[in-house]
Amino acid sequence: MKPTNLSPIRVGLLGIGTVGSGTFNVLQRNQEEIRRRAGRGIEITMVADLDVARAKAAVGSGVQVVDDARKVIANPDIDIVVELIGGYGIARQLVLEAIEAGKHVVTANKALLAVHGTEIFAAAHRKGVMVAFEAAVAGGIPIIKALREGLTANSIQWIAGIINGTTNFILSEMRDKGLDFDVALKEAQRLGYAEADPTFDIEGVDAGHKVTLMSAIAFGIPVQFDKAYVEGITQLAAQDIRYAEQLGYRIKLLGITKRAANGIELRVHPSLVPAKRLIANVEGAMNAVVVQGDAVGTTLYYGKGAGSEPTASAVIADLVDIARLHTADPEHRVPYLAFQPDTMTQAMSDLPIVPMSEVVTSYYLRLKVADETGVLAKVTGILASLGISIDAVLQREADDVGGEGSTQTDLIILTHDCVEAKMNEALAQMQALPTVLAPITRIRKEELA
Ligand code: NDP
Ligand code: HSE
Repeated sequence: MKPTNLSPIRVGLLGIGTVGSGTFNVLQRNQEEIRRRAGRGIEITMVADLDVARAKAAVGSGVQVVDDARKVIANPDIDIVVELIGGYGIARQLVLEAIEAGKHVVTANKALLAVHGTEIFAAAHRKGVMVAFEAAVAGGIPIIKALREGLTANSIQWIAGIINGTTNFILSEMRDKGLDFDVALKEAQRLGYAEADPTFDIEGVDAGHKVTLMSAIAFGIPVQFDKAYVEGITQLAAQDIRYAEQLGYRIKLLGITKRAANGIELRVHPSLVPAKRLIANVEGAMNAVVVQGDAVGTTLYYGKGAGSEPTASAVIADLVDIARLHTADPEHRVPYLAFQPDTMTQAMSDLPIVPMSEVVTSYYLRLKVADETGVLAKVTGILASLGISIDAVLQREADDVGGEGSTQTDLIILTHDCVEAKMNEALAQMQALPTVLAPITRIRKEELA
C-alpha cells in the first residue's frame, strides 16, 4: 500500500563543515527535483555545530541552529540524523544515541564505520532503523549502491580502487608539476579534500577504512579494519615515479580486497599499475574503483572522490533512499552490508583475512648498488634461489644516476608473482650484500588484468 502521509521528511544535521554545507546547498538548489524523486520533500530543519554563528550564516534564518548535537537527537520531529562531524569519538556516541532514539542515520564517516561498524549496525538492526553511508566510500561515486544492489548477482572476485582523493591529488601534482609532497598536501587541504588529521590520508588509513567497508559488502564478512594491511605514500620517492613511467607503469595508492584461496585479502599500499589501464590515468582528487564479478566481468566506477558537493550528492542519495523506504518493514530493506545479518556469523568463520606475508603479488624493486662487475648476478642469484622469477631489469648508467665519475647506480627489477614472505626473505638477503648501498625500495605491482 502507498504511504498516505507525504509531509516532508525532517532531517537534523550534525556538523556543517565542508560536506554539511554542500549537503544543505544542494538540497536547497535541487529541492523540487529531489522531492519528485523521493515522493516527498526532504528538509533540513535543525543543525548542530560548535560554531553557531558560522552555521547560522550557512543556513540562513529558516533553520534552527544549536551548539549541542544532543538537542537534535532529542527533537521528536526529526526523522533522520545526518552525522557529518567525523572521527571515532563524539561521532560514535551521537550515532548510537540517534539510533537508540529511533532515528535513521546517514553518515559519511568511514573511520567510524570501519572501526565500530559491527556495533553500530547491530544497534540499528535491533531498533529497526537504517544506517546509510554512501558518502563514506569514494565521495560522489555510488559504489556502495553498485556493490550492494547493482552487482548482487555476482560472486565478487576482487576490488581495486583509488579511493583517497588527497593522495591521488598529491601523486598527480608530484608527477605532472614536479611539486614537493608538502606543497601538494597543503593544496589538497585548502581544497577541502583532506581529513581533519591528514596523516589518515597520506598514511593510507582513510583508504584502509574505505576498502574495509567495500570488503564487508563484497564478501559478506564483518568490518574489520584492524586486520587490514595499510601502507601510505610518505616513503615514495620522486625517482620511483619516474622509473615506473619508463617501465610503462604509474604509481597509485590502491585499496585492494580480493577473494583468495586462503581467505580475503584486505590491503592498501602504493602499487605500480600498467599505464594502459584506465585506472592508471585517474588524476587529481578523482577516484576510481574496479570491481571484478564472476558474471559481469570487470566494471569501473569513476568520479569525484572528495569535496563539498560531490560528497553531498552521495549523502542526499541516502536521504532519498530513506525517504522512500521509511515506511517499509525493516526486513524488506536492503541489508546494511548487502548480506542478511543472520548469514554473517557463518561467513565470518569461513573467510579469514589473509596476513600480508601470505599475499601473492608481483614487485618493483630499486636497489642502489656499487657499479661493479657481478652485482647484478648476485642479486638475481638470490631471487632465483628463492624461486622468484624476474620480469624485467633496468640498469641505469652510473653517470646518469650519480653524475660523471659516479661509482653507484640504480638497479630496477620487476618480478613476477611470488608470495610476500619469499620476497621479504629475498630483500633481507639482498640488503646484506656489501654492494647494496642503501635501503632497498619495494613497491608492489598489480596488473589488474
Ligand atoms: P569538517 O571539519 O569540514 O566539518 C565538520 C564540522 O563538524 C565542523 O563544522 C565542526 O565544527 C563540526 N563539529 C565538530 N564537533 C562537533 C560537535 N560535537 N557537534 C556539532 N558539530 C561539530 O569535515 P568534513 O565536512 O570534511 O567531513 C565530515 C565527514 O565527512 C567526515 O567523517 C569525513 O571523513 C567525511 N567525508 C569528507 C569528505 C570531504 O571531501 N571533505 C568526503 C567524504 C567523506 P568546528 O569546525 O568548529 O570543529
Ligand atoms: N580525505 C578523503 C579523501 C575525503 O581525500 O579521499 C573523501 O573521503
